[in-house]
Amino acid sequence: MATILVLNGPNLNLLGQREPAVYGAATLADVEALCRDAAARLGHAVECLQSNHEGVLIDALQAAGRRVKAGELLGVVFNPGAFTHTSVALHDAIKGAEVPVVEIHISNVHAREAFRHHSYVSPAAAGIVVGFGVDGYRLAIEGLVRKTTG
Ligand code: DQA
Repeated sequence: MATILVLNGPNLNLLGQREPAVYGAATLADVEALCRDAAARLGHAVECLQSNHEGVLIDALQAAGRRVKAGELLGVVFNPGAFTHTSVALHDAIKGAEVPVVEIHISNVHAREAFRHHSYVSPAAAGIVVGFGVDGYRLAIEGLVRKTTG
């Protein structure tokens, strides 16, 4: 059994009440339960962290990289929220930590405002899941397990 980190960025603590027409009715607790279930079906465990602070997310990615190298972690399922579109620092953290990351977005960012069409995270990601609602977290976990345990 290995562990997967499910990392959520800014405003994802508001899931369930935030723009439900875009993000749906599921809360962050629902999403984390879904992730635990998806990982358990594949024989793995999940740790969850949400932060509204870029530096906390960077620290978590660096720590995840160290744990991947120590064989304690498979990688990270990461919804960077709006930092997706702004953060060179998250891009550099993923590359610098050499941590396998599957980037996930609940909404189809490419069907939304132009400022959501570019991701600084995608070029550093092992894979991307976009537009499947919160079910995308399940797909991201399955994809991360396939990529890292292939
Ligand atoms: C999001 C998409 C981002 O553009 C937005 O800023 C979010 C959520 C998504 O999951 O669809 O906070 O990452």
